[in-house]
Amino acid sequence: MKKEISRRSFIKLSALTGTLLGTTGLSCTREGKTGIEELLEKVSQNVPGTGKSVIGLTVPPIPQVKVGIIGLGNRGTTMAHQVHALFPHKAKITAICDIRNEKAEKTFELLKENGQEPVVYAGAEDSWKEMVERDNIDLVMIFTDWNNHVPMSVYSMKQGKHVAVEVPAAYTIEGCWKLVNTAEETQKNCMMLENVCYGSEELWILNMVKNKVFGTLTYAEAAYIHNLRELLFGNSDYNNWRIRHYLKRNGNLYPTHGLGPVAQYMDIERGDRFEYLVSMSSLQASLTEYSKTVEPDNEFYSRSDFKNGDLNTSLTKTAKGRMITLKHDLVTPRPYTRVNALAGTKAYHEGYPSRLSLYDKGHSWLNEKLFQEYREKYQHPIWETMRKEIEKHGGHGGMDFVLIYRLIDNLNKGLPLDMDVYDAASWSVVGPLTEISVELGSVPVKFPDFTRGQWKEKRVLEILKNI
Ligand SMILES: NC(=O)c1ccc[n+]([C@@H]2O[C@H](COP(=O)([O-])OP(=O)(O)OC[C@H]3O[C@@H](n4cnc5c(N)ncnc54)[C@H](O)[C@@H]3O)[C@@H](O)[C@H]2O)c1
Repeated sequence: MKKEISRRSFIKLSALTGTLLGTTGLSCTREGKTGIEELLEKVSQNVPGTGKSVIGLTVPPIPQVKVGIIGLGNRGTTMAHQVHALFPHKAKITAICDIRNEKAEKTFELLKENGQEPVVYAGAEDSWKEMVERDNIDLVMIFTDWNNHVPMSVYSMKQGKHVAVEVPAAYTIEGCWKLVNTAEETQKNCMMLENVCYGSEELWILNMVKNKVFGTLTYAEAAYIHNLRELLFGNSDYNNWRIRHYLKRNGNLYPTHGLGPVAQYMDIERGDRFEYLVSMSSLQASLTEYSKTVEPDNEFYSRSDFKNGDLNTSLTKTAKGRMITLKHDLVTPRPYTRVNALAGTKAYHEGYPSRLSLYDKGHSWLNEKLFQEYREKYQHPIWETMRKEIEKHGGHGGMDFVLIYRLIDNLNKGLPLDMDVYDAASWSVVGPLTEISVELGSVPVKFPDFTRGQWKEKRVLEILKNI
């Protein structure tokens, strides 16, 4: 029997998928019903593009990468410092932009004190366009709120620039396809700045996977559990952009910090792929209760219309049969964790704190001595060779600096980047797919195949080459 969904859900799903449903001819009946199966089929369908694959894309070496930065709020300011750390030998910040004059000026003054004088664009909603149209920019880095990621990335690529965009790269299925199709049409890099893939613990695990310490990988658990209630209601986000998503959406709104490293452990888009997910959200209670404790003049004071459940849990099945549990919770008073658990036939790792157990070493976690032996033996060399620079520049324990270093260094050398637009799309699309699953009662939702079948070809991650 064909399962039906209501007009309300259909309208909501149309927003999640962008024009995807409209362009594929799916519509509600006069009774306001449409078939779930038909709708889900459309969601995973390819959106044709006119370009060619950017898998393994290389561009001529850029000895000094000219960088333009958009968005100088909390994240953009700190990341501008990381880029500055590579001035003048590897990179130069030629232009910066923020809609707010004071933010742009503050970063300009800091850069000027240290010998850089980027051109400043500020004051209007679309000042960034003028910046992106400049000739002396190779790479546009985007640190704005989520709503701007896709339009800014697409426009930048169309202006002949490479793009590095914050997480998540997009939050609709249509947005993910736009990034993929534009990168293919323009033959430009579009890398999502998933810094957690460069953590010392994550790269150590990745290196152990490469060296077969885990045997056959079977399942993983990842999360972004971070109590950000105060931040959500506070005034540090521009126009409170983040909490507005929690008013409208219900799913995993911030999937990539936990999922990105797991995708790399599991060779996603390089021999395996995410096939489908199911997702469930708990009731929403924390934001409503907390909203009663903020000042009455706060726009979000005493609201009961938050949509996002306190905890969202999703299960993803990969084409090779692996399973990934992914959690999202920004509101419960519990300690920070990304879990970072990985299971194989020969080993199991769990983070927070990091522990390892091996099939031939008993039933307990490795003792401190043995653990350290494994830690040292399989540490990714970049964390050793660049130890001093990483300590100096830091950023989330050093992962931010390693991320920026690898991005710029690969462009300097004309090498493919560590993460490509297909990674950006398949990790980010988890957001809207979880929303669809939650909206339809936790039904399985198939992933679009952004690589159009090329995921089957085994590829070695750049970060694992020559080590
Ligand atoms: N990877 C990480 O560890 C990490 C950490 C924090 C935030 N982030 C990501 O960074 C991004 C920014 O987050 P944030 O906390 O810095 O937010 P924020 O609100 O502090 O900063 C966003 C900035 O963009 C500017 N902006 C908005 N619209 C603009 C426009 N049209 N033109 C130019 N500038 C515009 C705002 O003025 C603001 O300064 C988000 O995507 C977030 O998910 C990533």
